[in-house]
Amino acid sequence: MHVSKSILAMSGAALLVAITYGCAGTEKAQSDDWYANALTTAVAQLRQTADDVDSTGLFPRSLMTDYSLEQLEDQLQTAHSNFKVELLEHPSLAEYRTLRLCDAADWTAGFFPGSLWLAYEMTGDTTLRERAVRYTNKMLPASYMTDTHDLGFMINCSYGNALRLAPADSIREVMVRTADNLIARFNPEIGCIRSWDFGEWNYPVIIDNMMNLQLLFNATKLTGDSKYKDVAIKHARTTLAHHFRPDHTCYHVVSYKADGTVESAGTFQGKNDDSAWARGQGWALYGFTETFRETGVDEFRDKAVAVAEMIMARNTPADKIPYWDLDARAGADTPRDASAAAVIASGMIELGYILKEQRYTDYAEQILRSLASADYLAEQGTNCGFVLKHSVGSLPHGSEIDTPLNYADYYFLEALNRLARVKKGLAPVEEFIS
Ligand code: GLY
Repeated sequence: MHVSKSILAMSGAALLVAITYGCAGTEKAQSDDWYANALTTAVAQLRQTADDVDSTGLFPRSLMTDYSLEQLEDQLQTAHSNFKVELLEHPSLAEYRTLRLCDAADWTAGFFPGSLWLAYEMTGDTTLRERAVRYTNKMLPASYMTDTHDLGFMINCSYGNALRLAPADSIREVMVRTADNLIARFNPEIGCIRSWDFGEWNYPVIIDNMMNLQLLFNATKLTGDSKYKDVAIKHARTTLAHHFRPDHTCYHVVSYKADGTVESAGTFQGKNDDSAWARGQGWALYGFTETFRETGVDEFRDKAVAVAEMIMARNTPADKIPYWDLDARAGADTPRDASAAAVIASGMIELGYILKEQRYTDYAEQILRSLASADYLAEQGTNCGFVLKHSVGSLPHGSEIDTPLNYADYYFLEALNRLARVKKGLAPVEEFIS
């Protein structure tokens, strides 16, 4: 039996003022305001969205967006005649910037229930817990899926948070079944879990896949069977060997031949094959940090540190919210990616805690303060119920450019929670107990 000891015991209001910044009086009151405002806004938005969407049986994902070919060409620095990427969407005028929903088979579906769990954890508000349970139950079909690597995102963010905050045997069963489906995609010759079943690659593995390993570490803790953790470690070692360039930026997609040698290395969602797609760098930082936490393997820690330093050196905007690709042309017309910022912040807080390196925590806090400003944080009752504005899904596909995304909200809440915990002297991530 495991509950979130210190947090659940507190009321929302108590938590908001419990963050200590080591400064006094007015200065402290002001520095707490941004956090309280972000959490209050997030709770109101999530609650309203949960109620609005409930009857559809679906999950909020983003807004319907459109694209301008000129903008894509400009961002990708390509001439129209060479522009071969398949464009995905053209909503009708009436649909434009309305709510985009998804079903439980979508890779992002688990983030909304996850956000509800995190908001419950941070406030102790049982009305959020009731909504979290409802939306988590809707994710059940995903636990039977075998044709995607995204099972960690989908099930660990929904059921995984449920297991931490409201443990039940039925949740354990879902987690273990999903982990079995995920390791069924592992090829021992190649040493990786296969990411995608579409496309022309022989065996594509994307950096995002590092984020699905936590489900496997949890499955080993739940069952006592090391096979899940063994697959996770092998996947991380293979990724370490082939996904990174000498400057510690990473490729988005590495495809392998059957003998485990690299067929190709490039991008799907970034600016070009050699660029540093912002969210991918975030996935790498976060993924290797949590893999180090779970394994204690020094090489994983060293890679997380190298990626963190690279991001800090190459993320140029003053507010620390990265351009959608770290190699995109700097300028007011270049979209920022709040989702990448939130993933980086959450990963940095954990890395800072593990290494006792305040620079990383401070950097994360700078990001979170920017995200909590009016530039990125929605006003209550706007933004189709999402918390953050200004993320990018896949610019080369003309998909979800400069829009809210459910995973930006999830990692923003997670990072806020982690920051509060660290400020209180707690580990940012609770030890997972079966
Ligand atoms: N995992 C897909 C993405 O980050 O867009």
